Amino acid sequence: SSSDTEVHRGLAGVVADTTSISKVVPETNSLTYSGYPVQELCAKCSFEQVAYLIWHGELPTEDQLRGFVETERSQRELGSATLEILDRLPTTCHPMDALRTAVSVLGAEDETEDEPGREANLAKAQALYAKLPTIMAAFYRRRQGLDRIAPDPSLGFSENVFQMCFGKVPAPEIVAAFDTSMILYAEHSFNASTFAARVVTSTLSDLYSAVTAAIGALKGPLHGGANEAVMRMMLDVGDADRAVAWLDEQLAAKQKVMGFGHRVYRNGDSRVPTMKEALIKVAGLTDGQQWLDVYQALEQAMLDRKNIHPNLDFPSGPAYYLMGFDIDMFTPLFVLSRITGWTAHILEQQAANSLIRPLSAYTGPEQRPVP
Ligand code: SDX
Repeated sequence: SSSDTEVHRGLAGVVADTTSISKVVPETNSLTYSGYPVQELCAKCSFEQVAYLIWHGELPTEDQLRGFVETERSQRELGSATLEILDRLPTTCHPMDALRTAVSVLGAEDETEDEPGREANLAKAQALYAKLPTIMAAFYRRRQGLDRIAPDPSLGFSENVFQMCFGKVPAPEIVAAFDTSMILYAEHSFNASTFAARVVTSTLSDLYSAVTAAIGALKGPLHGGANEAVMRMMLDVGDADRAVAWLDEQLAAKQKVMGFGHRVYRNGDSRVPTMKEALIKVAGLTDGQQWLDVYQALEQAMLDRKNIHPNLDFPSGPAYYLMGFDIDMFTPLFVLSRITGWTAHILEQQAANSLIRPLSAYTGPEQRPVP
């Protein structure tokens, strides 16, 4: 019977496989990529170096980095089929739908989609990493009724994102804050979207199918969609003076407060202090004190009322807002970064595959004859 089967709802606490990509230690609020603390990576490395690390397990030498960056810059442009299909999407669709569709098109166009092996799949992963910003910016510009801006191969990854969206690169401190968000979002063990990618990969399906599944999983507000929900919430609060009353109303109505809590961390998210610091810098350069005040007030109130800490989406939401991105572009920005972690996990799953197929405990009617 089902009563003697232990059920782990939401797979909470279940260790589903091994990984060598990153390690989360909730007890010490620590996160390392291949052993390197993310705070140190943010202080000393570019997102490009960290992307290399996530795929290769080691930081690049100067030569390796040069080659890696050159490849990324040379692969940013999109083919005409992808651009045409993006042009046919309703401008009212969520940009995550545009990313998901474009990745699907890239898979359909890739005649070697099913080619097995690490080398072939790493090349596909790097091409997606190079093209996703171009896809996002193309959709954004079209929606604004503006001409597309081609990728600029003289610019770094993060600078180029700004250039393609807005036609200009902001102050280096703003670009650095954005780069920090990319490093912090890159990888986080068996989160829901990464696990979705691994489930698809475990059937020996292709990398593009796994990435589209991951994009779909990330879109939800309990996962990546939270960074958008955070900013909508902050706009609704409006002023720090209203934060406590606003929060009490939400909690009384049993509403989840976006950007707070985490399945793994119970005493704070290892990435928040670094991203909060970046937000403070951005706010200082963009007249953003109002949102910093709302941030502080909500953070304090949530600790007082529920003893629940913010997660990474809490500081990144207002940071992206102050950088000038539309709110519904925030989760796509998460994708630009997490494509590295997702595909590293896809490669890891391919290298030592076992079909992911758990059991369920049946609770329906006992067996009975069909009348
Ligand atoms: C990401 O897994 C990852 O690593 C994800 C991620 C990554 O890098 O990939 O870190 C990115 O997805 C961050 C999370 C973004 N989501 C949100 O900010 C949405 C709001 N957060 C919550 O819905 C919630 O905290 C979750 C979904 C993140 C975690 O949910 P759990 O582990 O299932 O916990 P729970 O919902 O069962 O909460 C436990 C208790 C409950 O109270 P009790 O019933 O025990 O009294 O804490 C309360 C919850 O009500 N609680 C909250 C809350 N989060 C937890 N109450 C109000 N607001 C919240 N945000």
